[in-house]
Amino acid sequence: MRIDTSLAILASLGGAAAFWRMECRGQVGLARIDPLINPGAVSSHAHAIHGSSGFNEAATYEDLINGDCTSCAVAQDKSAYWAPTLYFRHDNGTYEAVQQVGGMLAYYFLNKDLKDTNKKITAFPNNFRMIAGDSTRRNYSVAGLDYTQPDPPKSDWGNLGQTNQHDLAQRALGFNCLDYSGAAEPSLFRHYLPDKAFLDANCKDGVRFELSFPSCWNGKDTSSPDHKSHVAYPDTVLNGNCPEGFDVKLPGLFFETIWATNAFVGVPGEFVISNGDVLGFGYHGDFISGWDADFLQAAVEQCTASSGMVQDCPLFTILNEDEQRKCKMPTPPMIASEKLAGVIGDALPGGVAIQYGPGPAIGNPAPSLAIAAAAPSEAASADAPSVDAPSVDAPAPTSAEEFTGLPGGVFQEAPTSTPEVNAQAEPSPEPTPTPTPTPSDPPVPAGYELLRTDYVTNGNVVSKIVVIETVEYVMLATETVTVTATFGAENARRELHHLHRHNHRSH
Ligand SMILES: *[C@@H]1O[C@H](CO)[C@@H](O)[C@H](O)[C@H]1NC(C)=O
Ligand SMILES: *[C@@H]1O[C@H](CO)[C@@H](O)[C@H](O)[C@H]1NC(C)=O
Repeated sequence: MRIDTSLAILASLGGAAAFWRMECRGQVGLARIDPLINPGAVSSHAHAIHGSSGFNEAATYEDLINGDCTSCAVAQDKSAYWAPTLYFRHDNGTYEAVQQVGGMLAYYFLNKDLKDTNKKITAFPNNFRMIAGDSTRRNYSVAGLDYTQPDPPKSDWGNLGQTNQHDLAQRALGFNCLDYSGAAEPSLFRHYLPDKAFLDANCKDGVRFELSFPSCWNGKDTSSPDHKSHVAYPDTVLNGNCPEGFDVKLPGLFFETIWATNAFVGVPGEFVISNGDVLGFGYHGDFISGWDADFLQAAVEQCTASSGMVQDCPLFTILNEDEQRKCKMPTPPMIASEKLAGVIGDALPGGVAIQYGPGPAIGNPAPSLAIAAAAPSEAASADAPSVDAPSVDAPAPTSAEEFTGLPGGVFQEAPTSTPEVNAQAEPSPEPTPTPTPTPSDPPVPAGYELLRTDYVTNGNVVSKIVVIETVEYVMLATETVTVTATFGAENARRELHHLHRHNHRSH
């Protein structure tokens, strides 16, 4: 029996697909601090940090807005965006950082609550905070499904009972295999980090970590004890209906980072996220809004260009890539001395142990080492490793003995040479764009219905994917039509290609 919600989706999608993507070309820091989970202390694992230079281990809203720069593209965005980093464990037990490519992207999807599309999108209030994902999770538990299999169609999730918040949170993680010569995988297509053999064989341009944050809010709390319970996912993660009690629709924040796993093709070993997670179920990210809420509200209402480019929003003051990359936070000196980039030794930063699951990770409790005494130092800031020029040669700590309780060679001797870094060119997979007008949705062919609209990013190309479905009862063929916009080019390119995916369903 086909349960058809396609028409309802079609009816309510109109005009709801605006978004912009905040480019954060620079990493403002790479450090083992996390003001949400371990305020004022060293955090258990390493994070790549993007956004305001006012970030610190106990960052307040005031700290962020008073930061003198941001590593993101819009001067008015003093938010902090951070997530774990990726390492490679060589077969001999040595860990080496995987290079993060091109900074990070934070999408702001302006999708309405489908329950009431007249309701406006509400800006994050000042000092709004949230976490997406669960660092201790080590399994996939949606409806007992095999995590290696693709999700059922989104339109079926409700009827299959897969729209509870635990399930949606697990589907909010994506590990996208990048091969710019082929068709792009949709976002949030795969919810686990593929193993090395798969990455080696298929992902010649690396892997993209994706993380969707909840975008339905209880309308009153800027945070909550777990930094999660004040928000919820709409019923298809990026889009859909907000649950009862979370009736205020926020911008849908979506992080993307790209990791050069392809630099390790043929090298024996395995990839592991800085929190000791090999399969990726414990991937997570954190956000503190450093916007002025009134300004962000105006941007949410006015910056609805279909290009998604922040450069197309007249309200934004755009910072060039150099300015973004130059912006660094002052890292507390003792943390700055920790080696997090290049070949780092025989343990993950913080001595985090790999735990494969399926039970939740234990035994990597957050260390409660206060950083209080350490005054931020400009020198440390200048030496902070960055995306584009990793510089891990921070001076040897002057007070390492204070940290002798930390396991695992946290404070290594500074290396004598800069670690070898793989080419960091921005992926520019589009050879010869054919100039055509701004992309618009292709017509829905006769006999098909619009099922949903998604976005995927492939280097500097954002594709809008319109999924259409045949109106047949015996077998449903789902066809994906892609409209591609090349960012940074004067003209957008329109391209249609058809990925034939056949979903057999009972009737
Ligand atoms: C392990 O192998 C890596 C990569 O070849 C190398 O950089 C590292 O020095 C080796 N570690 C040891 C302890 O031999
Ligand atoms: C799967 O992970 C959840 C969340 O961490 C945990 O509660 C559950 O016990 C795990 N399942 C198994 C079989 O270990």
